[in-house]
Amino acid sequence: MVSQSQLKILISHDKIAKATDRLASEIRRDYQGKRPLLISVLKGSFVFMADLIRQLDLPLELDFVRLSSYGAARESSGKVKVVQGVKTAIKGRDVLVVEDIVDTGITISFLLDYLKKKKPASLKLCVLTDKPSRRKVPVPINYLGFTVPDKFIVGYGLDFDEKFRNLPDIYTLED
Ligand code: IMP
Ligand code: MG
Repeated sequence: MVSQSQLKILISHDKIAKATDRLASEIRRDYQGKRPLLISVLKGSFVFMADLIRQLDLPLELDFVRLSSYGAARESSGKVKVVQGVKTAIKGRDVLVVEDIVDTGITISFLLDYLKKKKPASLKLCVLTDKPSRRKVPVPINYLGFTVPDKFIVGYGLDFDEKFRNLPDIYTLED
């Protein structure tokens, strides 16, 4: 069992909101005159996606992809599967993937390869948090919110065993 006392604040909602503003203005600038397709990686990135798109004054469209997850473990199994694929046609679209966290990089590089095969006009990645110390596969991040330490984090969409997604701030989960 994980208790509330194991949570230590890492990034306040206020800082997340400022970072989201900054990322949105970079994205607005880069996608002027375009009609980007934003793909949110479920479930973790839905909170970030919801805040981000409301700062984007662009004729954007949304889709969602669901990949196999960690389950109750804190380590990636290294095996990724598409549980729910995108419904929108990707060919010729300017695709921006929105992710909550890049850890080993295995999940997101699998997704980027999967999307690349569908021949988008462009493919970029927007990530709220990055844990570069744990990287096993190189990942090209175009828009980054925060670099985080090598600790398990929860809140603002991020879960541990499906819990804590609803917290407005981001916390580290201490032993
Ligand atoms: P990767 O394949 O190791 O990069 O793992 C990426 C996925 O693992 C993310 O999309 C998250 O769902 C999950 N994950 C990795 N690190 C954390 C963490 O610190 N907190 C919550 N979820 C995490
Ligand atoms: Mg995720």
